[in-house]
Amino acid sequence: MRTLTTIKQIGGHAGQSVWMGGWINNKRSSGKIQFLQLRDGTGYIQGVIVKSEVSEEVWNTAKSLTQESSVYVKGIVREEPRSQSGYELTVEDIEVIQLTEEYPITPKEHGVDYLMDRRHLWLRTPKQRAIMVIRAEIIRAIQRFFDERDFTLVDPPILTPSSCEGTTNLFHTKYFEEDAYLTQSGQLYMEAAAMALGKVYSFGPTFRAEKSKTRRHLIEFWMIEPEMAFVDHEENLRVQEQFISYVVQSVLTNCRKELEAIGRDVSKLEAIQAPFPRITYDDAIKFLNEQGFDIPWGEDFGAPHETAIAEKYDKPVFITHYPASFKAFYMKPDPNRPEVVLCADMIAPEGYGEIIGGSQRIDDPELLAERFAEHELSEEAYQWYLDLRKYGSVPHSGFGLGLERTVAWICGLDHVRETIPFPRMLYRLYP
Ligand code: 4AD
Ligand code: MG
Repeated sequence: MRTLTTIKQIGGHAGQSVWMGGWINNKRSSGKIQFLQLRDGTGYIQGVIVKSEVSEEVWNTAKSLTQESSVYVKGIVREEPRSQSGYELTVEDIEVIQLTEEYPITPKEHGVDYLMDRRHLWLRTPKQRAIMVIRAEIIRAIQRFFDERDFTLVDPPILTPSSCEGTTNLFHTKYFEEDAYLTQSGQLYMEAAAMALGKVYSFGPTFRAEKSKTRRHLIEFWMIEPEMAFVDHEENLRVQEQFISYVVQSVLTNCRKELEAIGRDVSKLEAIQAPFPRITYDDAIKFLNEQGFDIPWGEDFGAPHETAIAEKYDKPVFITHYPASFKAFYMKPDPNRPEVVLCADMIAPEGYGEIIGGSQRIDDPELLAERFAEHELSEEAYQWYLDLRKYGSVPHSGFGLGLERTVAWICGLDHVRETIPFPRMLYRLYP
């Protein structure tokens, strides 16, 4: 194979003749000149073909090219400040790999169902590419944040014998003779890891068989779950606000082009700097009642409630101290008011809803055993988890960030389906 230069690297070859591999994004012609919009995954560049400067064969080959045809193109790299990449290619030669016929995604508008059925091709469009690049930067920033702070990356299992976040939305499968479930959250295993390694984080897929068809819900989504020994509720919130500020600022620094390509209002992101505002569940209920929402103390918030609260702020807001009654069994009660727990949900601005759920965990073995009884969880299945409170139990806290909701917010998208390469949603398993 010949050596190829990528569009991303092309600036290092100004004035030289290079070969590149790519696809035809678009094409136009003005008689004696043809313009090829080329993409190679790393970027976009315009190829210019001047009739008087190439052989008739090259000219005719260029004429025959259709949208998404794959090609090798040889050309001289020229600086072109008006173009997005800063360069242009004066084409000398073209080799067709495959001529594409009737590509289904044209520059005209298509409906969402049509595009979702063709997600494998939809990914090639500039907006979808930009989102995937931003997603990758968010992942890099997340890993950098924790790696630089001496957290150890630990991988919890995907197949589990029991649930973490309630039994209503578990994916069931057979594990030979036993029953197994796809993980809803790695948290319980991360608590074990924190007792072994101090500060840990996981980054993996999680599954919830939720019958929710909203713009915030996926069936399969990725979660980042840090867990920290000797860390209380207050410090847990400080880590979270530092973490989210760091991720947003990293995207602003490293993905300007992509944010521009998707038309994101970056001034909204520039405001995302720690500290973040906090409001207790009690005060949130008061505020909602003042706003005319008919929600009693003790009921969980829905999307409209979260959005109303978030609208008060231009940063993410923590809602803290929820009633224990509808929160997970492992959350530590507030010692001054045991009917509420030391937890917080982080609600993103601009109506993106909850992006983080976290809490201090129960460290007292007796209280944990009581909770198991209340929640009708079999102690037998969780014996190993109870062991963590039996052998050197310490105060500890952690949280889970939903990657796709974070990508939707940072990119300003109206649905999580565009934040993951192949979304798994209610009634959608294809492609
Ligand atoms: O609030 P959740 O359910 O918290 C937990 O699972 C804890 N065990 C995490 C922990 O403390 N280690 O989920 C955490 C986050 C949510 O805030 C949300 O961002 C995301 O995961 N999430 C979803 N994202 C997309 N689709 C869904 N169906 C989601 N369910 C939760
Ligand atoms: Mg939650």
